[in-house]
Amino acid sequence: EMMKDILGLRAMEAELEQKLGVTKAVIVAGDSDEEDWVKQEMGQACVKELKSIIIPQSVVAVMGGTTLAAVAQMMTPDPKVSQTIFVPARGGLGERVENQANTISAEFADRAGAEYRLMHVPDQLSEEAYSSLVLEPSVREILDLIKTSRILLHGIGDATRMAARRSSEEPFMNKLKREHAVAEAFGYYFNQAGDIIHKQRTIGLQLDELDSGKHVISVAGGASKANAIAAYMKHRPSDVLITDEAAARRLLHNE
Ligand code: F6P
Repeated sequence: EMMKDILGLRAMEAELEQKLGVTKAVIVAGDSDEEDWVKQEMGQACVKELKSIIIPQSVVAVMGGTTLAAVAQMMTPDPKVSQTIFVPARGGLGERVENQANTISAEFADRAGAEYRLMHVPDQLSEEAYSSLVLEPSVREILDLIKTSRILLHGIGDATRMAARRSSEEPFMNKLKREHAVAEAFGYYFNQAGDIIHKQRTIGLQLDELDSGKHVISVAGGASKANAIAAYMKHRPSDVLITDEAAARRLLHNE
């Protein structure tokens, strides 16, 4: 029975790669909307993937969210990973401390025996503050590291849910509704076609910097994220998608 399940998931991985255009899909059993351990399973799969592709002396950029927080918890010491530096990919996006990219990159590094750098940038940046902060030497140093990063680990969220989690104001919530926002990743909001409809102003990696030199691993599961995953992948199919069975079934068969 278990073997059949595993074979079923392997078949769905191939279908998902086809459908989303991702190079590699990894599906773990379960539904992370319903059960927390599924995020840990995705975490294990992500750590395995990271260890298999990591290049010593390189930089790994990470984003925030509860999924990435669960991934970091699954990190274990590794000789190759210990020679890398973890950095937050972008500045503050209005998350609780434990779900911030800074915290998560420190957690990854501590568990792997690697180094990390923090980036202290407020969540809401005026254009003025933005232009002067990018000139700060301590900020510039991290921006340079982020630019050279070879691997990016990030989550994907449902647009409305993420905006609410960030206590966004009503005019913005209305804009998301009006423009049919469905997905959010790195502070960018997307419609179902994968077009960017809003970009939160913060320092760090910009989406158009994700050239082919960067290996992007997206981690997102739960049936409720199926539309968000599809929309984001329309914008830019990732190298690797780590997801769960519930999201995959909804994506493939609308179950
Ligand atoms: O706020 C950071 C972030 O990575 C978002 O870009 C993403 O939508 C969200 O977290 C995912 O959060 P979770 O894993 O908790 O659903």
